[in-house]
Amino acid sequence: MTDRPRLSSPHDAGQATRIDLEAETDLSRCGALKDFWYVACLSTELTPRAPLSRTLFGTPLALFRDSSGKPAALFDRCLHRNARLSAGDTFDGKLGCPYHGWVYDEAGACVEIPSLGPSQRGALLSEDGHARAGLSLRPCDVGKVRTFPTLEQDGLVFVFMGDDVTKARQPPFRVPHWGDPEWTCYFMVTRFPNGVTNLVENFMDVPHTVFVHKGWFRNRKRTQVPATVERKQGSVLVTYEQENDQLTGAGFLLNPTGEPMVHTDHYFVPNVTRVDYLWGQRSGYVISSQVSPIGPLDSLVYTSISYRLPLDMPKNLVARGLRRFMKWYTTQVIGQDVDIMRVQNEGLTRAPGGLEFKSTEADLLHADIEAYRAWLRDGGLGEGPEDAKRRISFWI
Ligand code: FES
Ligand SMILES: [Fe+2]
Repeated sequence: MTDRPRLSSPHDAGQATRIDLEAETDLSRCGALKDFWYVACLSTELTPRAPLSRTLFGTPLALFRDSSGKPAALFDRCLHRNARLSAGDTFDGKLGCPYHGWVYDEAGACVEIPSLGPSQRGALLSEDGHARAGLSLRPCDVGKVRTFPTLEQDGLVFVFMGDDVTKARQPPFRVPHWGDPEWTCYFMVTRFPNGVTNLVENFMDVPHTVFVHKGWFRNRKRTQVPATVERKQGSVLVTYEQENDQLTGAGFLLNPTGEPMVHTDHYFVPNVTRVDYLWGQRSGYVISSQVSPIGPLDSLVYTSISYRLPLDMPKNLVARGLRRFMKWYTTQVIGQDVDIMRVQNEGLTRAPGGLEFKSTEADLLHADIEAYRAWLRDGGLGEGPEDAKRRISFWI
């Protein structure tokens, strides 16, 4: 098969599925999908000591902290000979290119060119000489590297990739229970070989859990799960009626007494999911996933895990051991999703004609997600998909 499969689905009128993985991650074709804040890294990953390389919407970025500690994001290409700036150094809140040492500030301005000498005019050539040679006399004359607005919140560094940050369609997503002393909260960062639409669908998908996470998360029960799917103002809320459902693995620790389970899955445009499991008055397990697009089939996912146990747990060895277990457990479960997302990628791309999805009632929420994302990709004009509330039911 020599043809490179296209990564878009047929756009027949009236067809629910309209996915175009390439357009979704192309800044010039992704419409309003770029007008949101996307996570670029964890706060802890961005130290004052070294820059960080990241890619969002196929655009390479060099991240660093300025002299006040605020994150800065520059297009990752030096003005001089185009070396990758993120391979350089940071010092005094500035970013130095690794090739000839040109220095940039957080506004992308070149503030020092070592070859120009201490005066920044060059020691040997006069001003006229510089002009005759067509050389720039001062670093700031060479122009600016493109910058992108940044924002830091809840332990995450966000970057805005759109043209006008004042047109951001909403503030960044708040990490559930972040900073709440009653909850334990930690992050996981995972590279997934798939695109945003397929990933948010996976994170909202219950039927896959009994196959992909068999024994780890939920066992097949041959039982019917009724649910309500509510599409409203850019979000899709699924409320499951599965009070007697039990999660395996960490589920037992969180609910040893078998309290009824309240389970909701929530999608927020364009790239966030939040899954809540609550038992009784205080026990809970909340997973949020923010998907940052690198390319059509390449994403970084920032997962927050928050949990609160049925009993107060002193900050002792047991609590530390439990935290370690939770991290190990969630790493295994996420690894299973990475594997199945790779398998989906392979099915999609090994032959032309991928992204023609057939759906059942259990996929209604996915159709809602696709409707919102297609609307945004087409520019996000007008009201978008209208609010709707439907009952569904499927077997697990
Ligand atoms: S390429 Fe960056 S300083 Fe020369
Ligand atoms: Fe999963």
